[in-house]
Amino acid sequence: MSFEHLKPKINQYIKGSKNREDTLQHICKLLKSEVSHYDWVGFYFKNGNKNELKLGPYAGAPTDHTIIPFGKGICGQVAVSNQNFVVPDVKAQDNYIACSITVKSEIVIPIFVDGKNIGQIDIDSNTLDPFSVKDEEFLEFVCAKVATLL
Ligand code: SME
Repeated sequence: MSFEHLKPKINQYIKGSKNREDTLQHICKLLKSEVSHYDWVGFYFKNGNKNELKLGPYAGAPTDHTIIPFGKGICGQVAVSNQNFVVPDVKAQDNYIACSITVKSEIVIPIFVDGKNIGQIDIDSNTLDPFSVKDEEFLEFVCAKVATLL
């Protein structure tokens, strides 16, 4: 399904949301099943007052990395930089936390609520260099919608 077709689905999920965790879980499942180069889709959120991220709902293989300190890995760097991070080839990154040996690339987009970076969507792909500016735009849309639930 194209990103343009997925957007109304995301809107439906957000409008019909009764439970935040369930809605985020549905979004993860939708993106993983409908976008062929998305192999793991999950949300990380700032863990209370701590300078660390905590894993939220996700779709894909379970990960050991349920807590990620700020600054560590791609996710931890986005928590500090407040910027999208597109990694075409994870092997080229020094500060990277491997979740699975099958992962070749990753994209992380921050979620802002009232201008504050409160979390992120993290997507792993088993394909090399699959992400374009279209992924970034679409995921920014998803993050903006998710922010309305938080
Ligand atoms: N690869 C991430 C860690 C999270 S897993 O991809 C689920 C990172 O380097 O921050």
